[in-house]
Amino acid sequence: MDKIVITGGRRLNGDVVLSGSKNSALPIMAAALLAEDTTVISNVPNLRDIQTMIKLLRALGAKASFEDGRVVIKPGKELNPVAPYKLVSTMRASVCVLGPLLARTGHAQVSMPGGCVIGARPIDLHLKGFEALGARIKVEHGYVVARAQKFLRGSEMYLGGAFGSSVLATGNVMMAAVLARGKTIIESAACEPEVVDLANFLKKMGAKISGEGSPRIEIEGVKKLHGIEYAIVSDRIECGTYMFAAAMTGGDVMIKQALPSNQNAVIDKLLQSGVRIDKGKNFLRIRGRARLKPTDVTTLPYPGFPTDMQAQMMALMAITPGISVITEKIYPDRFMHVSELNRMGAKIYLESPRAIIHGVKRLSGAPVMASDLRASAALVLAGLVAEGKTEVYRVYHLDRGYFNMEGKLSSLGAVIKRERE
Ligand code: UD1
Repeated sequence: MDKIVITGGRRLNGDVVLSGSKNSALPIMAAALLAEDTTVISNVPNLRDIQTMIKLLRALGAKASFEDGRVVIKPGKELNPVAPYKLVSTMRASVCVLGPLLARTGHAQVSMPGGCVIGARPIDLHLKGFEALGARIKVEHGYVVARAQKFLRGSEMYLGGAFGSSVLATGNVMMAAVLARGKTIIESAACEPEVVDLANFLKKMGAKISGEGSPRIEIEGVKKLHGIEYAIVSDRIECGTYMFAAAMTGGDVMIKQALPSNQNAVIDKLLQSGVRIDKGKNFLRIRGRARLKPTDVTTLPYPGFPTDMQAQMMALMAITPGISVITEKIYPDRFMHVSELNRMGAKIYLESPRAIIHGVKRLSGAPVMASDLRASAALVLAGLVAEGKTEVYRVYHLDRGYFNMEGKLSSLGAVIKRERE
């Protein structure tokens, strides 16, 4: 197993180029199943989750390959509708093959994804949406078994849950509805940029969708979709993570391929923290200040502050003088990084779903354990500013979502390397 070793204290300077968005690429790869002919997707990041999706598509009977950031998928006429436990259990986003399989074959059998360390992650909203389209759903032997009678029928549905909208449920239902008979209206749809990217992809395939990016999406079912070429948008969470790396180290970093209009909540919080930001159509320049100012953050569905940036925000607050508060409204238990940051000298008190952060003058490097994807990123950020050496173990979490993070940070001047344990 690999670990990341960082010697803290370097100011980051220079340019970094973002990779394609993992959270856009995964449902879009699943959506390629909706056509029989070949789809080519470019700007796909070389990550473990992408490899898992390739394996899953192959298990479903599609031809799928990945080379140089290009995924080529040829689903063919016949699909096998069973998504096995072994693959689904390693990646929750596997659940988004349910919608395309149901739409193409009228039958889908997908292992229940189960919980994960960031808390309970139900799929009731996905299932509610499929039922609204006329599918019958059973849970048998740990699998969701969904069947359409003859075909799916468009309908009007409300997809809001206890914590608001769901990104993958919106995408999943949208993918099922594009081939349904008649019109579907999804109310309380997720507005995340990844939903918009998926809608753009589906529209290019021939789907009729409007309202994506708003809480009301309308879909007019069509008979058939066709394979296309498509480029994935850049990763806004990777972007936010490098924004924080620059801000925390007092650096000056130009982030290329950024889409600032997707980052307003993060930009707003960094401006409140006293960070200087210049932006253009597809770049962000971040200049950190010697002294940061405390802020309060609540995670919310888009356009609110993303839960996927919460751990990184906490790392920044940990070294910001004064008291900052984070309220986690999407995953109330997503605080595994608190104890590890505290091992590095942070003073963070947990009263879930709230964390109270007393900023300290300095963190001290320590061996720490990554618990999940974004928590790992927070530990790397903390390592960049900590005194001495930080070793981040279990970096396979990091590898699920960040392409070559140690390479990108070291090109900005960080002292960071990957080692075999
Ligand atoms: C996606 C992202 C993940 C991000 C999350 C929230 C991908 C691959 N993953 O996950 O990185 O952290 O959005 O921005 O895109 N919920 C229900 N019932 C459901 C589904 C969700 O109650 O059927 C709840 C969840 O428990 C959570 C909230 O809704 O509290 C949001 O989850 P959701 O948007 O579904 O997350 P994902 O789409 O799985």
